[in-house]
Amino acid sequence: MCGIVGYCGKKIQLKKIIDKLKKLEYRGYDSAGITSIKNNTITTIKQVGKIDNLLSNIPGNLHTTCAISHTRWATHGKATHTNAHPHSSSKEQWTIVHNGIIENYQELYDKLKTKPASDTDTAILSQYLEENCNDNIESFITAFKNIKGSYAIVCINKNNNDSLYIAKKNSPLYISQAYGEIWVASDPISLPLEYDYLYEMLDNEFAYISDSNISFYDNNINIVDKKHININESFEETNLNKYPHFMIKEIEEEQSAIEKQIQFYKDKCILKEYNYDFIKNYENIKLIGCGTAYHAGLVGARFIEKLVGIKCTVEIASEYIYKEPILDTNKTLFIFISQSGETADTLRALEIVKSKGFNYISLTNVLYSSIARKSKHILPTIAGPEIAVASTKAFVCQLTTLYMFASHIHNVLEGTFIDYEKDLREVAKKILSFNKEKLDIIAKSIYQSPTAIFLGKDIDYIVAMEASLKLKEVSYINSTSYPSGELKHGFLALVEDGTPLIIFATGSDIQISKTLNATQESIARGAKEIIITNRYEYSKHNDNSIYIDSLNPLLAPILSIAPMQYLAYKVSILKGINPDQPRNLAKSVTVE
Ligand code: M6R
Repeated sequence: MCGIVGYCGKKIQLKKIIDKLKKLEYRGYDSAGITSIKNNTITTIKQVGKIDNLLSNIPGNLHTTCAISHTRWATHGKATHTNAHPHSSSKEQWTIVHNGIIENYQELYDKLKTKPASDTDTAILSQYLEENCNDNIESFITAFKNIKGSYAIVCINKNNNDSLYIAKKNSPLYISQAYGEIWVASDPISLPLEYDYLYEMLDNEFAYISDSNISFYDNNINIVDKKHININESFEETNLNKYPHFMIKEIEEEQSAIEKQIQFYKDKCILKEYNYDFIKNYENIKLIGCGTAYHAGLVGARFIEKLVGIKCTVEIASEYIYKEPILDTNKTLFIFISQSGETADTLRALEIVKSKGFNYISLTNVLYSSIARKSKHILPTIAGPEIAVASTKAFVCQLTTLYMFASHIHNVLEGTFIDYEKDLREVAKKILSFNKEKLDIIAKSIYQSPTAIFLGKDIDYIVAMEASLKLKEVSYINSTSYPSGELKHGFLALVEDGTPLIIFATGSDIQISKTLNATQESIARGAKEIIITNRYEYSKHNDNSIYIDSLNPLLAPILSIAPMQYLAYKVSILKGINPDQPRNLAKSVTVE
């Protein structure tokens, strides 16, 4: 987690570096800091809270030719000033910013002569470097032989002005070079738009930047002749435009995102490679992701099973890592789903699957991400940058992609034709047509409730899970989701007068009738019933119902999640929460 921006070059304002750091705030916003070096003097400024707090404490006339900066998502130690990065060693020989986790921090700590005041693994590492290596890059690399864990590290050394020392393992780091300026960042999105060369640091690589030169090394101190890379992505500015928050902007972009997605797949013939020869041997498909991406996998599994008839299982990445499933390498296909393409658990699961020789496809929104770079087969989502922590348009695009994939495989194997483009264009037209006025009123009626319960059967239950996650994330309401048949098996005990009970009713008549019957015991105990349904008869006279116009039950999830994202947004605003950056969370979870 966390974001890093480092700079070495011509004299610039410190504020300019922090402006670049702001683009990484999606990686964490518990504290931020910057260290610069001039004439062997180290100056560090840190602030708890968001990057704007730091910016407002930096005078415009402060300039630098070498600096490292960091925005933190607290892992080891609370979000305090002492724990904020950068961390200097006791004699200030090393000052470092770090993303990732030093796993053997206790072992390193026990060996230290001077114990740091900070609780962070990073401060221990900085002190460890001071006590175990001198100022040259060779000694720095040797010291890392004793470091275990994941890290993207950028350091300043007090005795070397205008120099940066860099180490990387399992956490992304990029370096851009233009005449007279070198930038380092954990995501290319925060690098300058114009550069001559762009390098991606690989695991166990090191770099030494001095003045305008970069030298790359492997972990045996051999010089690496590193090739620069091209990223076919334009990092256009993502602005709020007329919107107050990214979350609502991103919900409002869902129609155009689905349309772009369909067009992109058509223009680039993305699905062509998934032909009969590709798919014919697979008897199992495993879909893997975390959070919202896991929910997309659950819906995607329904698409594939219903349209193709191949058995699917869906796994939470962090759980899958520790499983030893008995699977036939030739008969099992994996699909990894990740908006960011950087989620550590998903990446780790992918590496395990890859090392065992399985074939896999990655479905991601970031085509230069670590997951994309480790994948031969990619199903891109064309959601555009998603800034708000709560995933909205990316989820919708993940479902769109999975529906296209499943329908395409159906067309390849079955010989009958599903016109998925037509189906999805209709969905796109309808996705934002839900009744916002009704939802505004519902939001007002539930925002003070401490709990909320989301229910459904089959695919509706999956939407209930995702809707519950969305509300929880941005409103801090203790929301939970259950299959409707489970209601009477225990959690009815949570229902009190006024508890919101949000019911998804888009499946078969029998499923809907069973779900509605099951909720009667809760309603009798005072629960406030809210129905999301594609049946006009349940919605026409009901102020607490939201109608979604979906004839295809498989596609109902795309239409029923959109109003729930909107509801979560509205509740968040009523509670005075910033929905783009809810407490304790970060957009991209790059630690296991
Ligand atoms: O970038 P990823 O799709 O891999 O992220 C996975 C989850 O961390 C993410 O979906 C998270 O659950 C969202 N904040 C949900 O809104």
